[in-house]
Amino acid sequence: MPEHAGPLRVGVLVSGTGTVLQALIDACRSRKVPAQIAVVISNVPGAFALDRARTAGIPAVTLDHREFPNRAAFEVALQDTLNQARVQLVCLAGFLRILTPGFVDAFAGRIMNIHPALLPAFGGKSMYGDRVHEAVLASGARVSGCTVHFVTRDPDAGPVIVQTAVPVEDDDTAATLSARVRREELRAYPLAVRLFAEGRLQVQGNRVHVLPPRTGGPDRAGAAPSDGRGAPPLRSTPSSRLS
Ligand code: GRF
Repeated sequence: MPEHAGPLRVGVLVSGTGTVLQALIDACRSRKVPAQIAVVISNVPGAFALDRARTAGIPAVTLDHREFPNRAAFEVALQDTLNQARVQLVCLAGFLRILTPGFVDAFAGRIMNIHPALLPAFGGKSMYGDRVHEAVLASGARVSGCTVHFVTRDPDAGPVIVQTAVPVEDDDTAATLSARVRREELRAYPLAVRLFAEGRLQVQGNRVHVLPPRTGGPDRAGAAPSDGRGAPPLRSTPSSRLS
């Protein structure tokens, strides 16, 4: 991606309440993330996420997938709306539609998703919402967490950008585990977008390396070119979090 003058333009795709969207809105507004949400698109009419966008003065668009003859037509409208808003990065935030390879390829390296578990565990087609937390509890796993990753053709299988772990307590229910994971999600997604906006994500195969911050000069948006030398792998340590 070429260098850009203004803040990174982000399009957020949603289907629900938009708590993660709100974290992105707040982080951009407070300038903790050098990005601007250019459009919010929901496939669910009346989703509360749309209200959050409007309240923040962000264009909010409904594209109800049921009103399109097929998936391809829906995705053409999605792509047109994102392009009209000159979106440079697409963030899926509780967006409950699987995207086809055609759409994913059109935004290759420029789509992120957040998942409420530590991928590659507890991911895949039917894993969303409380089903994820119920599966974690049923497995007996002692840790869960959240993952922000680049979207590739395989659902929940793209390169991991940020991952944060939380403990699974003996008396957890899906609701209590979900709440603990959610607190981390609200920090993890803004961090991933900030790293992207700063041009600090270098993808090599399925691994993402996080480059050190640049001092001075304009921000570079996008995945940094790979020079083969690599960089320290990302660990979601307190020092790498947004304050
Ligand atoms: C998050 O748990 C995220 O991991 C999943 O959807 C949830 C966000 O939904 N993909 P919302 O922001 O409350 O609508």
